[in-house]
Amino acid sequence: MCFGFVPNIIVSSPEAAKQFLKTHDLNFASRPSLEAAKHITYEGKSLTFATYGPYWRNMRKLCTLELLSNLKINSFQAMRKKELSELVNILEDAAQEQVAVDLSSRITSMSSDVSCQMVFWMKFEDKEFDERGFGGVIQEGMKMAVAFNLGDYFPYIGALDLQGMTRKMKDIAKVWDQFLEKILDDHDKPKEHGQTKDFVDTMLGILKSGDSEFEFDRSHIKAILMDMFSASAETSATTIEWTLSELLRHPRVMKKAQKELEQVVGLNKMVEESDLESRGTWPHEAAKYISYDQRNLSFGAYGPYLSVLDLQGLTKRMKAVAKVFDKFLEKILDEHAIPKDPGQTKDFVDTMLDIMKSGVADFEFDRTHIKAVLLDMLAAAVDTAATTVDWTMSELLKNPQIMKKVQNELAEVIGMDKMVDESDLASLEYLDLPLELDMTEEFGLVVTRANHLKATPSYRLHLN
Ligand code: HEM
Repeated sequence: MCFGFVPNIIVSSPEAAKQFLKTHDLNFASRPSLEAAKHITYEGKSLTFATYGPYWRNMRKLCTLELLSNLKINSFQAMRKKELSELVNILEDAAQEQVAVDLSSRITSMSSDVSCQMVFWMKFEDKEFDERGFGGVIQEGMKMAVAFNLGDYFPYIGALDLQGMTRKMKDIAKVWDQFLEKILDDHDKPKEHGQTKDFVDTMLGILKSGDSEFEFDRSHIKAILMDMFSASAETSATTIEWTLSELLRHPRVMKKAQKELEQVVGLNKMVEESDLESRGTWPHEAAKYISYDQRNLSFGAYGPYLSVLDLQGLTKRMKAVAKVFDKFLEKILDEHAIPKDPGQTKDFVDTMLDIMKSGVADFEFDRTHIKAVLLDMLAAAVDTAATTVDWTMSELLKNPQIMKKVQNELAEVIGMDKMVDESDLASLEYLDLPLELDMTEEFGLVVTRANHLKATPSYRLHLN
């Protein structure tokens, strides 16, 4: 099928997908040539947008050896620890003063600082880059890369820039180019005695020696530096932001994570990178037994159960819980099998049973799948709602200043002469913060939060 002038192949069966992704992988490995890649990544010279071939293979090897090998990654461990400590200090101060922290900004800037030092070996202030900062410019570039651009499908119309996108892309490219030129100029200056060579020096060395087996000029170095910086800073920050958002929305999981941290690491030291290997395995195990072999929505993505020894007796307990649920859900399904009175409306269970009986679903869907989804809905609705209220009340009781703010809002917005109605909730903006976390997404090459994540921290560490 053609999108404008661009031929596209839609693959919809596992056999065809295997042909494209395995058998003929090399023919289809390159990303499409996009206007964004042309304007922002120096005519597609970055690793992300370069076509598959000797240049991509050699650059990938160079990046892996000089930047991403275990040895190099470990050599930056102290720097990562220092950056994280600075963030923890900010959270400690905010906890003492009971003020909200803009976690999105703080995490983005920590991630940029880490990536800057890893790729360029020095830290830069946001304003040295552009008034939008690193995060702002990278996010704009990521959005441009996936936005619908007429020029990608109708090359002749693209030249007219009817959507104004080329102008915006050139603007982003200019900001990057000025910044990267400055870095290359700094690295061109003679080194002091004993100063070690960094990633930029290595690439400049290859350029000066002229003995690369592929075309390699200043623009290739700039494209790769931009690639490494933006691919690492934005992805890492966004992953942390979404993880924290999900933990804040699911207090039960947050409590479990906190408990694990207390037991495995303790509260009198910061988590070290080496501690990460001692993570627990409870989610995988619980999924197998309680959720009908992971057929429900929440546990579908987890991997296979590894241990059969059941040394902790957990399997036995989970199987017992699963049996109770199964009996209850079987009863519900049996009751729904009784023919309906005329005019009686169908509910969610009826609809699922209809789909199962009609056989129209183009995926496997039997009685166990229906029970798994019902279990999901029940557990997700009952437990999370009750726990969210429990947790919010405990946090309010623990933080008298926040409780005072909530009480003031209630007095001002609702008044003290009536009970709070469900319809009043929309106008209680401050109370809404702990109860309802906004999870709106912003579409881009990396899907980020649309709105910044803000939270008031409680400090639990006892560092000397
Ligand atoms: C949590 C962090 C990260 C996530 C979620 C992530 C995710 C991804 C994904 C989904 C792809 C596309 C893979 C494909 O098309 O097959 C990708 C590609 C890439 N990532 Fe990451 N990434 C992360 C961190 C990093 C870091 C730290 C770097 C570099 C320092 C990096 C550099 C790259 C590069 C250069 C590519 C393009 C590779 C190519 O097409 O040849 N990423 N990443």
